[in-house]
This record gives sequence, C-alpha cells and structure tokens, in this order.
Amino acid sequence: MHAVLVTGASAGIGEEFARQLAAEGQHLVLVARRLDRLEALASELKARHNIEVACIASDLAVAGAAQALVSELDTRGITLGGLINNAGFGDRGGFQALSLQRQLDMIQVNVTALVDLTWRLLPGLKSRPNSFVINVASTAAFQAGPNMAVYYASKAFVLSFSEALHEELKGEGVAVSALCPGATDSEFASEANMTNTLLFKAGTMTPQAVVSKALAGRRKAIVIPGWKNLITVWLGKVSPRAVTRKLAGLLQR
Ligand SMILES: NC(=O)c1ccc[n+]([C@@H]2O[C@H](COP(=O)([O-])OP(=O)(O)OC[C@H]3O[C@@H](n4cnc5c(N)ncnc54)[C@H](OP(=O)(O)O)[C@@H]3O)[C@@H](O)[C@H]2O)c1
Repeated sequence: MHAVLVTGASAGIGEEFARQLAAEGQHLVLVARRLDRLEALASELKARHNIEVACIASDLAVAGAAQALVSELDTRGITLGGLINNAGFGDRGGFQALSLQRQLDMIQVNVTALVDLTWRLLPGLKSRPNSFVINVASTAAFQAGPNMAVYYASKAFVLSFSEALHEELKGEGVAVSALCPGATDSEFASEANMTNTLLFKAGTMTPQAVVSKALAGRRKAIVIPGWKNLITVWLGKVSPRAVTRKLAGLLQR
C-alpha cells in the first residue's frame, strides 16, 4: 500500500487530516495510542471512500517508538507519499509546578518523535514524486510562552526545523511545511488545562478550516490558517520580544 501517515489521528486536527485526505482518495496509516478510535475512524472512512486504511497503536512518548513504527510499516509493506507529524500536547502551568515527566514526554512527542520519524521516512518520501511532510507547529512557535514554557519552546523547534528542511530539500521532490494553527476546537485545550484561558475564550477555529488550509498549502514553508492568527503573528513580529512574551503569558492566565 502507498499511503499518507498521520500521527495523532484519533482526535482533533489529526482526525480531520485523515478525513480530508480520505476525501482526496489517499490510502492512510493512522497512528495514536487509542487504537479503538483509530479503528472506528478507519471503518467509517473505508465505507465512504474507496481507500485502504491501516491503524497502528503507538505511544510516541516512549523512546524508540518512531523506530518501531517504521519497522511496522516495512513489515506491512507500506510505502509513504506523505507524512503528517501532528501528534502533540501541551500543559499549562509554571515550569516548576508542572510534572517534570510530563514535560519531558511533551518534548519526546512534540519534538523527538517528529524528528525521528522525519529522518527515518525521508529517504522513501524523496524517492516518490510530489511527496510532502506537514509538521504541526503552532502560532505558539513565534514567541516565548510564560506558563507553557516547554510547549512554546517545542513548537518554536518544530517551526525552525521545518523551515530549514523546506529549504534544504528544495528540488528533491519532497516539500516540508510547518502548519501553525492558533486556538482550534479539539481535545487539546482540555488536555492542556487551557479551556478557561483568554486565548480559547477569544474564539477557536474548526479543525476543518485549519486542515483545508494546511492541505491547500502543503508545498509552502509555513501555513498560518485564519486571518486572526495571521494578524497575531504579524503583530508579534513588529513588537519587541519583551511585549510579545508578556502578552502570551496574559493570554494563558
Ligand atoms: N488545538 C489547538 O488549539 C492547537 C493549536 C496549535 C497547535 N496545535 C497542535 O496540533 C496538534 C494536534 O492537536 P489537536 O488540537 O488535534 O489536539 P487533540 O485533539 O488533543 O489531539 C491530539 C492527538 O495527538 C495524539 N497524541 C497525544 N499524545 C500522544 C502520544 N504520546 N503518542 C501518540 N499520539 C499521541 C492523540 O492521540 P491519543 O491520545 O489517542 O494517543 C490525539 O490523536 C498538536 O501537535 C498540537 O500541539 C493545536
């Protein structure tokens, strides 16, 4: 099977990637911890579209998970034309107050597994025409985030890494894009203890809108979906860093 792999496909933005890619007629590999959710989604998508869908349970917070995932693809004879590194999570609170293990897991999922998967899967992607990698960063990538220090730093890494690869790989057939959504309606806010923050109260985008922009812009270096998010990023660029980091902190109170 020749497919697009989506990590974090059991909910939110990843689930929507699976839905929109299925509508394009792409075969899929869905990855997350909650296999029951992946299998329910796979059944639904196979019934609606003429596609094959493979589900792989993987906890990307576990060291070595990316390597195991890639061997599983080899065992099943799956090749990829697209990789969507979407799995990720945040946690709101002071750096010292939050659990160290949860913050290290965050780095493992948001950063290490993303780099690991990209490195291992890139040779196969390069050998296929018009292949793509979408790495899900965030508008959080553009400034420091007091009370979510590790999450913001992880997304700054994803943006910088993806932009660099976008340039490095020009002319090699594979496009690398960083998707930078702002507050989006998914399980993210409750998982990150952010439901009552100003950021989420100010309004969210739907995963549908975020993903359709991401897929339309899959060959662009950076995709920032939604005019509110574009303005926020632009304001951040023209303001002193001391101001943007304070504002980011306020939005997360
Ligand atoms: N929603 C927002 O406001 C927002 C804004 C900017 C960026 N983002 C980014 O968008 C991406 C998707 O988030 P979302 O909003 O769709 O959140 P979500 O609804 O909470 O979905 C997160 C997905 O990641 C998976 N995941 C989490 N930890 C994992 C682990 N250890 N191993 C494997 N999979 C794991 C979850 O699956 P399981 O629990 O089944 O493992 C789930 O499918 C994340 O990278 C997030 O940082 C979100």
